Amino acid sequence: MNSIKKLIIFFLVLFYCRIEAKVFKRCELARALKNVYHVPSNQLATWMCIANFESHYDTSAINTSTGDHGLFQISQIYWCSNSRNPGKSCNTQCSKFRDNNIRDDVACAKKIYQEHQRISGNGFTAWVAYNRYCRGNVSQYVKGCF
Ligand SMILES: *[C@@H]1O[C@H](CO)[C@@H](O)[C@H](O)[C@H]1NC(C)=O
Ligand SMILES: *[C@@H]1O[C@H](CO)[C@@H](O)[C@H](O)[C@H]1NC(C)=O
Repeated sequence: MNSIKKLIIFFLVLFYCRIEAKVFKRCELARALKNVYHVPSNQLATWMCIANFESHYDTSAINTSTGDHGLFQISQIYWCSNSRNPGKSCNTQCSKFRDNNIRDDVACAKKIYQEHQRISGNGFTAWVAYNRYCRGNVSQYVKGCF
């Protein structure tokens, strides 16, 4: 293989392998959650409040002391694998929760919600931020977005 080809392949691999993060604007995230990922309207403001306090809408957020990852600070203790292979309850690598594709984050967050809904009767209680900050009137988190 000639060296130009090697160089091109090197940059292609670099391009596809990099973890690209994204910091969402508030309404940009609210619209994506509702329109693309079909988060129920009556839950939307609460999800937005949780994302605000957990990650400030930054998909690359990581808490190295607790092992929480991404927009919703999903825990590596139960939900994602911190190794090279997908694993744990959401069958995903934790690093996937820190890239700019939030499809897997939302899917896992919904799963966490469902589990906690079953256990406690309120799925949002899985999130520390919910218990602290998002139990009241959260309408401000979707204000002006729709
Ligand atoms: C990590 O999580 C702990 C427990 O929720 C929190 O007290 C701490 O501030 C977090 N650290 C960062 C860097 O977010
Ligand atoms: C929630 O707060 C908004 C202002 O942020 C207010 O307009 C609205 O009436 C409040 N809703 C309830 C149910 O209190």
